[in-house]
Amino acid sequence: MHRTAFTVLFTSSLFSHSVGAFPLLLLRRLAPPAFQASEPSPAPMRLAASPENAARPLPAEAAVFAQNIMATYGRYPITMVKGQGVRLWDSTGKEYLDFVAGISTCCLGHANPGLTAAVTEQLGKLHHVSNLYYTAEQGRLGAWLVEHSVADKVFFCNSGAEANEAAIKLARKHAHEKLGLGEPVIITAKASFHGRTLAAITATGQPKYHRGFEPLVPGFVYVDYNDAGALERTVRRINFWGRLRGWLPGKKRRGVAAILMEALQGEGGIRPGSRSFFAKARALCDETGALLMVDEVQTGVGRTGRLWGYEQLGVEPDVFTSAKALGGGVPIGAMLCKERANVFQPGDHASTFGGNPLACAAGLAVTAALEREHLVENAAARGESLRAGLRKLQAQYPGVIEDVRGWGLINGVELSEASGLLAAPVVQASIDEGLLLVAAGARVVRFVPPLVVSEGEVEEAVARFGKALAKAMAAR
Ligand SMILES: Cc1ncc(COP(=O)(O)O)c(C=O)c1O
Repeated sequence: MHRTAFTVLFTSSLFSHSVGAFPLLLLRRLAPPAFQASEPSPAPMRLAASPENAARPLPAEAAVFAQNIMATYGRYPITMVKGQGVRLWDSTGKEYLDFVAGISTCCLGHANPGLTAAVTEQLGKLHHVSNLYYTAEQGRLGAWLVEHSVADKVFFCNSGAEANEAAIKLARKHAHEKLGLGEPVIITAKASFHGRTLAAITATGQPKYHRGFEPLVPGFVYVDYNDAGALERTVRRINFWGRLRGWLPGKKRRGVAAILMEALQGEGGIRPGSRSFFAKARALCDETGALLMVDEVQTGVGRTGRLWGYEQLGVEPDVFTSAKALGGGVPIGAMLCKERANVFQPGDHASTFGGNPLACAAGLAVTAALEREHLVENAAARGESLRAGLRKLQAQYPGVIEDVRGWGLINGVELSEASGLLAAPVVQASIDEGLLLVAAGARVVRFVPPLVVSEGEVEEAVARFGKALAKAMAAR
């Protein structure tokens, strides 16, 4: 190896890791990270061509899509045409109970009269103006969010990934200005999901989403979710060696700017965060000045049976993000922070559509319905019934369902390895039975119905899932 290259690798290894083990770490540096090397290549999502779908006729739209739409999604051979409440209908007239809800998004269900009226009225009055001006709707939604959370300020955008991008930028600016860090590091969890933009995908601790998009954004380190010891060791290691690094001529100080975690890992298999892990994260942030940032894109707005997922964990984040259910299906995202983290100045960040009157009118209709119809309480109560029903199925089919877990109306059924069943065929069998579900990992089936779901609809869903499970087992 060229001597200069060796010296550079040697010093960077030395000052970003532990000194005692540096020869080993140098070798590790040269090899791909272990958890990347051990991951299987991601199977491309080609649902229409999967064994479960091979014999199914494609709807007319499939050809138009094949010709014109980028194939970034695998799609079921179904065209949805109409929705009402918790039900959807496809172009053949088949009816489904929608326990996907646009993936935790349509919290008021479909064709909700309040949401429809609010958006229609706003469209006829003022749907978009630049953020160069004030609008009453953005102010009112911002005030509601501040009043109903630990946050002091809100930045509006359009999606979950965009909200997380805003949080990442905020953490970096906060680290530069308040912590004196030249090289801020954000710690996220393995098996996490934070979105598909470049920084959000880097924050996502799943190598399968990274492949093909390298080089990734620098400054992200991953730890095991719910492993408080690993988190503490990682924070201390980064800050210790990062401080020493800052003393080297021409080197900037490296250190932890933020810990970014989902309150419950959704895409990672419906894994609720543990209180002890988040307590440790909070304590480490208090000690070091780093920001505790919670991704509430899937868990926020009542889904967990509390308004925000962090309420399940007994901690107050400095920053949290929201999207999905915030507009009930009308695109809107938000990054919210405490005053101490509020370092953005005019010009630091922006979004053309962010917080426009149309999206905010939708958000206000959602917040009004949450309060008027006690939807957070409904999510908690219906979630209990759903888990109870699923646990009955677990007892009915011993050895098939490994675990039933979740909070409120975000729940997962983990299929046992021994059963030989994967989530995909079970989801397909459920669709056949008229129940829409979505996988969360290879062996976890996710249940995320609208927050307006009734007791009767929960019972119906459990019954349909039971039938689907029996058919999927018979077809093994
Ligand atoms: C926890 C979490 N964060 C971020 C995102 C990305 O949100 P969006 O698809 O709106 O960009 C998702 C989407 O599933 C999510 O579940």
